[in-house]
Amino acid sequence: MPTALPSSRILGTGHYLPPGVRTNLDLERMVETTDAWITERTGIKERRVAANGVVTSDMATAAGKAALEMAGLKATDLDMIIVATITPDMPMPAAAAIVQRKLGAGVCPAFDISAACAGFVFGLSIADQFITTGQMRHVLVVGVELLSRVVDWTDRTTCVLFGDGAGAVVLGPANAKAGDAKPRGILSTAILTDGSLANSLRIPGGGSAAPASHETVDQRQHCIQMKGQDIFKVAVKNLLSASRNALARAGMTQDDIDWICAHQANKRIIDQVMARVEVPPEKVLMNIDRVGNTSSASIPILMDENYRAGKIKPGDTVLMCALGAGISWGSAIVRL
Ligand code: ACO
Repeated sequence: MPTALPSSRILGTGHYLPPGVRTNLDLERMVETTDAWITERTGIKERRVAANGVVTSDMATAAGKAALEMAGLKATDLDMIIVATITPDMPMPAAAAIVQRKLGAGVCPAFDISAACAGFVFGLSIADQFITTGQMRHVLVVGVELLSRVVDWTDRTTCVLFGDGAGAVVLGPANAKAGDAKPRGILSTAILTDGSLANSLRIPGGGSAAPASHETVDQRQHCIQMKGQDIFKVAVKNLLSASRNALARAGMTQDDIDWICAHQANKRIIDQVMARVEVPPEKVLMNIDRVGNTSSASIPILMDENYRAGKIKPGDTVLMCALGAGISWGSAIVRL
């Protein structure tokens, strides 16, 4: 199937991980769990936890600066800033507005999107649309989470899973020409939400349904609550269809993909999906053992780590897929 030329491409990537490490052995001292259980059920060995005083916009700004530097652009070159996060510095204003100020970017639209673990793919898709229509040239997309502040550290079913971090990309015009054999850029994106499963993964307190009160704090309603098994089943099914959908939209097969950058929620989910898509394990990038589930930051951190390490090379084709609260999920195929 002939494919349209890409309109936008990734000009730079960056990430930030806070230095503080919390290992499974640390968690063994906090809740009734074991390193063996966490490793076998999730693939996670340790995760990063930001120090007191560090806020989401600090990590987003660090990742954004690294992406701008790789792109060879200044903050004032940005036409739009999108921050995907469920853990902004505060409910209002948007984390993106604070990132704009901290980066020293000029006046431009800067807004947050809430699609949990799928947030980065949602942001990438939105940025691509704005560049495709010619309204924007340079867009910063950040996925950032400070989940350690919304995790119930007494709940072993969730606290072992999550970590803090930020990843970012700068998108610009692809400048692809007809006849290019392998044009670099965003080759396809697809995003979806099924709100019928909204209660399976949520932070119930702090919004209009349960405004903050002594009761909401006592009942730990400001922390993540998850029906893990429900999410697991739907994650395998939907990430499989999202990956196939992304390939079909780009007119590709799995053999055209050099690397898989899947959301790092659970190694068993990724293994099951990729076995069914028939992608060999050596193409599937992983860092869940070191960083855990960093939600919207997961894919851009993984991509930047591997790009800077020289594993992903310019011109390589990457399939991304992610699913999280909403439930929202999405996929993208990008030639870097
Ligand atoms: N240590 C030891 N035992 C535990 C732990 C733990 N940390 N957590 C749960 N258990 C126990 C349970 O209590 C249960 O015990 P029981 O059989 O006596 O009742 C047993 O282990 C099995 O529990 P399950 O929930 O069935 O374990 P499962 O294999 O499903 O793994 C997990 C749980 C890791 C949460 C898995 O379901 C999962 O990864 N789900 C998907 C998560 C996800 O993708 N979330 C979306 C992204 S996050 C976002 O959007 C912010």
